[in-house]
Amino acid sequence: MSTTKLESIKDAALTAIKAAPSSKELYDLKVQYLGKSGSLTEIMKEMASLPKEEKPLFGKKVNEVKALLEQAYTEAEEALKKKEISSKMAAEEIDMTLPAMSRFKGTQHPVHIVTEEIFTVMARLGYSIRTGPLIEKDYYNFEALNIPADHPARDMQDTFYIDKSHVLRTHTSPIQIHSLETEKLPLRVIGTGPVFRSDSDISHLPNFHQIEALCVDEKVSMADLKGTISFFVREFFGPGLKTRFRPSFFPFTEPSAEVDCSCPICKGKGCSLCKQSGWIEIGGCGLVNPKVFQAAKIEYPKWQGFAFGFGIERMAIIKYGIEDIRLFPENDVRFLRQFVK
Ligand code: DAH
Repeated sequence: MSTTKLESIKDAALTAIKAAPSSKELYDLKVQYLGKSGSLTEIMKEMASLPKEEKPLFGKKVNEVKALLEQAYTEAEEALKKKEISSKMAAEEIDMTLPAMSRFKGTQHPVHIVTEEIFTVMARLGYSIRTGPLIEKDYYNFEALNIPADHPARDMQDTFYIDKSHVLRTHTSPIQIHSLETEKLPLRVIGTGPVFRSDSDISHLPNFHQIEALCVDEKVSMADLKGTISFFVREFFGPGLKTRFRPSFFPFTEPSAEVDCSCPICKGKGCSLCKQSGWIEIGGCGLVNPKVFQAAKIEYPKWQGFAFGFGIERMAIIKYGIEDIRLFPENDVRFLRQFVK
């Protein structure tokens, strides 16, 4: 009776062990058959009711079955481990041929891009770059440019004063004076960099950038100035754009003019950017005022010159049709990413 039971336990256990689908289930089988209160332990208890002479033989059989099941368990355990490791590896396999995740690289700021484009055009005309200090002596920002103290022309720009005799430069024109004082003539320079004014709205920033050209030579006329600006406008904004000069006033130029170009967005037809006029103002210009030459101790009329100054953000606004100048210092990446070169 007990022997038959033992045989059926053995068969059932071997089949179950071989078919165990996972290490966990295999372990449960071990507990069920070989554990402390497992089937084999139970059947050993039945030995007590056997006749004395049958006991040794039955005990031996139980031990054989135990050894057999333990061996089957070890084999199944190893096989399952192998299977589980290889399926884990297959699941975690990395496909080295997949394209890498693209990461956003930084872009150049549109003000920087436009500045470089302006340099490139002007370099072809023989101009080289100058920068100059951001904190300027009153003398360079105003006085030497023929804007004396208490002169109404000082009100043309809202100035940040550092102290009585120093300001945050309100324009790049003082670079003209530094060049005239220190460089050999004839001269063709581009002054550029940040400038500061106490002004902020949809078309003005307290901190913006300017670009300034100064040409000094022995014979310089309005015709040279107009030719240079017209060339620049066509090269920078695109061919076919017209330039127009309106008489104006700047203390450091005489005569002075304001420069308009035909609107590059609507090509002169009229749009919201040019306020339906077809023209857009881009900056000021003129022939260097003899008073400026005098301040820099340069002989006039032996030496003559022209100058012009543009706002760089304004050039970018016109070129790209941007509505609000305040987008430039905001540095929202959604804005900046549109200018990837
Ligand atoms: N400095 C002037 C301003 O910021 C712009 C300007 C006008 C510059 C005429 C010039 C010039 O060089 O000739 O408003």
